[in-house]
Amino acid sequence: MNTIANIDDFRKLAKHRLPKIFFDYIDGGSFSETTLLRNHSDFQKWKLTQRVLRIKEMPRLDTEFLGATHGLPFMLGPVGFLGLYHRNGEVHTAKAAKKKGVPFCLSTFSLKSLGVICREVGGSIHFQLYMDRNKSFVEHLLQAAFEAEIDTLYLTVDTSVTSVREKDVRNGFRALTKLNIKLFLAMIQKPGWCLDMLRSGSLRVEAVSNYPEFGKGILEQASKLSSRLDHSLTWEDFKWLRKKWKKKLVLKGILSSNDALKAKDLGADAIIISNHGGRQLDYATSTIAALPEIRKTVGKEYCVMIDGGFRRGSEIVMALGLGADGVLLGRGYAFALAANGERGVEQAIEILSNEISITLKLMGLRSVKELQSLGRECVKAY
Ligand SMILES: Cc1cc2nc3c(=O)[nH]c(=O)nc-3n(C[C@H](O)[C@H](O)[C@H](O)COP(=O)(O)O)c2cc1C
Repeated sequence: MNTIANIDDFRKLAKHRLPKIFFDYIDGGSFSETTLLRNHSDFQKWKLTQRVLRIKEMPRLDTEFLGATHGLPFMLGPVGFLGLYHRNGEVHTAKAAKKKGVPFCLSTFSLKSLGVICREVGGSIHFQLYMDRNKSFVEHLLQAAFEAEIDTLYLTVDTSVTSVREKDVRNGFRALTKLNIKLFLAMIQKPGWCLDMLRSGSLRVEAVSNYPEFGKGILEQASKLSSRLDHSLTWEDFKWLRKKWKKKLVLKGILSSNDALKAKDLGADAIIISNHGGRQLDYATSTIAALPEIRKTVGKEYCVMIDGGFRRGSEIVMALGLGADGVLLGRGYAFALAANGERGVEQAIEILSNEISITLKLMGLRSVKELQSLGRECVKAY
């Protein structure tokens, strides 16, 4: 195993281990990939304030977000098909998250069901919902979440149509419904991954395996699930969900102040500023650029989370200083999982928490709380 110095090293290892079609699926963004790039390059528009000779001890990282206190200011966000990047990927991720004390949000597009993850692993598990056109199927997912005693549900709303990721088009990813010769040839070029997957047995989306209309096997089920997303979703559907789901409800995919305010007014308990990791609206703003204005609009007390491009502790510190309550990781941990399974996800969490500690200490800050209360004194436009 090569030495891992930072999160980007996991990306290199994942590229080495995964069939190209799956690596590109994780890595890519929509159309020109401008928003994907902006999510990274816009961090450079800010500078962190260095202050010296202030604190002796290492800073405290405990942070409050989504109505609870967590040991670290970040969590693992919803990423589809983790079980394809590593055998039992969802279970490994949940175990690493539990061990490190960070929440993990399971995607609708998961191989393992919510019930299995909660029963076999536990910890702080959240669930991300994509609205299916068939509301009775949505009700079934809500019931499963309720039975698994999930207290935080995310509704993802930035997918009113599935955008085009051109790498996926070239690789034939979008058209995949069953194993074909192109996929077979791509897979056998990565024997380590193939052996790992063979040990999984037959792959399927457990949440829909009792529904014959989704077909059989992971490829067909995934394709049916995507094709059934409700592309006509409006605020009325959000109101419907708000009535059905009495526990915490988070709206994921907010990028403008008006939408943030509307989410708050209609009873969302929190929002996630997100552009789906640059995979949806190309030429949209980066999330870090959208954060200050959104925070100003919704006020100090409302819970505002953010994701998009976070690969460094310093970037997480920046977002917390600019008004985020907490940060969600996407590709950062997905690559670590692909590279090194459960241990990879643990390492990714360790690397980021170490980077956050060092950054806060060099900024002369005692804690994440102090950073959040000083806010813009600590993070200034460059
Ligand atoms: C491979 C992949 C699959 C994803 N699947 C989902 C999903 O099922 N549900 C969802 O709400 N967001 C999904 N996302 C978006 C992430 O939750 C998150 O918004 C994004 O990855 C953050 O950007 P980052 O990857 O640069 O950290 C996915 C992202 C990637 C890269």
